[in-house]
Amino acid sequence: MSRIRSPKFQAKVMSAADAAAFINNGDNVGVSGFTGAGYPKVLPGALADRIKAAHARGEEFSIGLFTGASTAPELDGVLAETGAIKFRMPYQSDPSMRSAINTGVTGYSDIHLSHSGPQVRHGFLGELNVAIIEVTAITEDGELVPSSSVGNNNVYLECADKVILEVNSWQSEDLEGMHDIYYDMTTPPNHPIPIMSPGDRIGGMNLRVDPDKVVAVVETDDADRNTPFKPLDEDSKAIAGHFLDFLKNEVKQGRIPKSLMPLQSGVGNIANAVLAGLLESDLENLVSLTEVIQDGMVDLIDSGKLKVASATAFSLSPEYAVKMNDNAAHYRKYIVLRPQEVSNNPEVIRRLGAISCNGLIEADIYGNVNSTHVMGTKMQNGIGGSGDFTRNAFISCFVTPSVAKGGDISCIVPMVSHHDHTEHDVMVIITEQGLADLRHLSPRQRSRAIINNCAHPDYRDALLDYVERAEKSSALHTPHDLREALSWHVRFLETGTMKA
Ligand code: COA
Repeated sequence: MSRIRSPKFQAKVMSAADAAAFINNGDNVGVSGFTGAGYPKVLPGALADRIKAAHARGEEFSIGLFTGASTAPELDGVLAETGAIKFRMPYQSDPSMRSAINTGVTGYSDIHLSHSGPQVRHGFLGELNVAIIEVTAITEDGELVPSSSVGNNNVYLECADKVILEVNSWQSEDLEGMHDIYYDMTTPPNHPIPIMSPGDRIGGMNLRVDPDKVVAVVETDDADRNTPFKPLDEDSKAIAGHFLDFLKNEVKQGRIPKSLMPLQSGVGNIANAVLAGLLESDLENLVSLTEVIQDGMVDLIDSGKLKVASATAFSLSPEYAVKMNDNAAHYRKYIVLRPQEVSNNPEVIRRLGAISCNGLIEADIYGNVNSTHVMGTKMQNGIGGSGDFTRNAFISCFVTPSVAKGGDISCIVPMVSHHDHTEHDVMVIITEQGLADLRHLSPRQRSRAIINNCAHPDYRDALLDYVERAEKSSALHTPHDLREALSWHVRFLETGTMKA
């Protein structure tokens, strides 16, 4: 049976090239996609061709590109390579897009993911001209069955003047029923979101669209493209071990129940490794309030340890994406995919008491965290949902190897070169060396806990030397030598290593 069950939408089927003609120079385009899941597969390529043809004719053609989060080379990559993305939000991790941002071709607004949809709805980012949304199917009633991510799709469908739908028959039809689309978010004041536990379903299964806004429907059967996770190495196993010991001690101290609190696991390899650590623990009856479902989360469901997971998207390796597709009817009993303004909603995170666990670029000796900027200026990915969760978590944790780039960079530095999460938000820092629990410590006490427990031995003495000298020459609440605070970064830029 056709995935386009409504005759009204059948009549709008056309080629990607014809559909791309609805997008014009200067448009803001809101596109589905969240970490390589649920992004349109053919429209972006057709749009890139349209842009390149316009450029070849000497015509101006640039657009603003809004998504849920990062996407894949078929979207961020092909469009960045045209040099025509004048504005990008709210998150990316594509090498070509990163390069366009860091060379000044693309202006990037790195926005908390929970804020990004509402900011479009409130008109903060200008008019939204076109939405391009991948769906699994269109129902007889003209409702849209979401695919492997929800992200900001509800907002883009609501706010765009024109809508292009990509119906992807690679996505399992059994995804129908996995989603929970809550439609009561509007200009504040909003009603409280009635989620009392991560598995609660509070909306409908499908997305809605005004059929009169739909200008084109394009069919595809291309697979989602996620990158495989790096194999678990000794460092990531050690990090997972420290995190697990910490959780067990929290249970022992009576601060959290044996089933823990709802777990949030960030993007990236280390966060996935932490999930693998949980698999080997004796913890059970776990629940997850998170942003993306990674391989480790699927393993936890399979093991029976994880009872339910709330998220906005899959972020699976190719192997696990196929597994999810083959078994979506089974997994939809355990997984709820929601709009990101709900999955990452600060009020829900605070009320349900999530334990957050995210990666970082660098942390400083007082517990400030840089998640985004290499050497303070070069954008890596973006803040994503790490701020949504960290600021509002019951316990906020960060995980990182103690060094990067073969040991030439210390991930623990005297002062972070960019701030994403301040000392006020960060409770626990974990490296392969150990764990610093900052919850009850003053800044000077924190410096010793972080240096002694988390810094790599190659950098420990130099960090201690820095803080001891700073204590002699500055105020004693948060001692710094401002002439030296960023000298480690400067040394790396000048010599290729932070080592003196
Ligand atoms: N200086 C320079 N580069 C650094 C670095 C530092 N201090 N720390 C890490 N990196 C580089 C690594 O070398 C690696 O580069 P490569 O891809 O060229 O090998 C890359 O950053 C990723 O680091 P890795 O150690 O593999 O960790 P990760 O995959 O867990 O990613 C972040 C770490 C910080 C980049 C990632 O967690 C992120 O983007 N976080 C922000 C968004 C977020 O937290 N989202 C979760 C929301 S729910």
